[in-house]
Amino acid sequence: MATDFTEDTAADAVIESFAETPDPRLRELLTSLVRHLHAFVRDTEPTIAEWEQAIEFLTATGQKCDDERQEFILLSDVLGVSMLVETINNRTGGATESTVLGPFHVVKSPRRELGDTIDLVATGTPCVVRGRVLSADGSPLPGAELDVWQANDQGFYDVQQPDVQPRANGRGLFTAAADGSFWFRTVVPSHYPIPTDGPVGTLLNATQRHPFRPAHIHFIVTARGYRPLTTHIFVAGSPYIESDAVFAVKKSLIKEFTSDDPEQAARYGLTGPFALADFDIVLEPAAS
Ligand code: BEZ
Ligand code: FE
Repeated sequence: MATDFTEDTAADAVIESFAETPDPRLRELLTSLVRHLHAFVRDTEPTIAEWEQAIEFLTATGQKCDDERQEFILLSDVLGVSMLVETINNRTGGATESTVLGPFHVVKSPRRELGDTIDLVATGTPCVVRGRVLSADGSPLPGAELDVWQANDQGFYDVQQPDVQPRANGRGLFTAAADGSFWFRTVVPSHYPIPTDGPVGTLLNATQRHPFRPAHIHFIVTARGYRPLTTHIFVAGSPYIESDAVFAVKKSLIKEFTSDDPEQAARYGLTGPFALADFDIVLEPAAS
């Protein structure tokens, strides 16, 4: 252990202090953390006031957290870390790409039949989402479960407007048919802002970043023997599709919500023009 603190030897001294850590992964993580953290401090040379401000920011971030609000995850989201961790852990060999879970998967989605609507309010542009759940070789995965949730056409989730929207508006749990197919009715969702009433909002404001996410529909797809997939589809052409506040857009997940022929609408139990989005979902076998 070093007995004389210097700028040059500080990182090594701290790393050496972890040398006896029994868990090798913990030792690896701490070693790398200290290397990068010390390099950042040497690089930026923060003043004492800046260091105090950083501590206050992190303290406020913790204080904003409760059973429903997770400001640290939101911070990780706007720094692009959530998406980086998600992507590293879901490198695919042909499966549908994943993206962040987000904070609004907070209530159990009600079970619905294929073809049901998840829109309990009937405002906005009606829309049909349809596709198949498949394995990488193209064989269907009958019985796959699709947990779906989305904001309404005004950009609010049901849980953000308990006095305005019916419970479980915009949510549904579907089971794929024998050929792996699924379809449900909904409304085209709107883009919306992430929560800005905490330290993350202060950070976005100070950096002149907007808080918006492009319009999207969330999915968690599961099938026995396959890796669960957490993802979204994004509405092509939505505002903010090029600048998602949480960096969660992947090109393969952008889908056209095409205006479909009103005459086709009857086939889907709709009476007027509607949008149609196709989303085939490919799952990877679970590691054995
Ligand atoms: C969401 O899509 O629900 C979301 C994701 C990350 C941060 C905030 C919201
Ligand atoms: Fe969302």
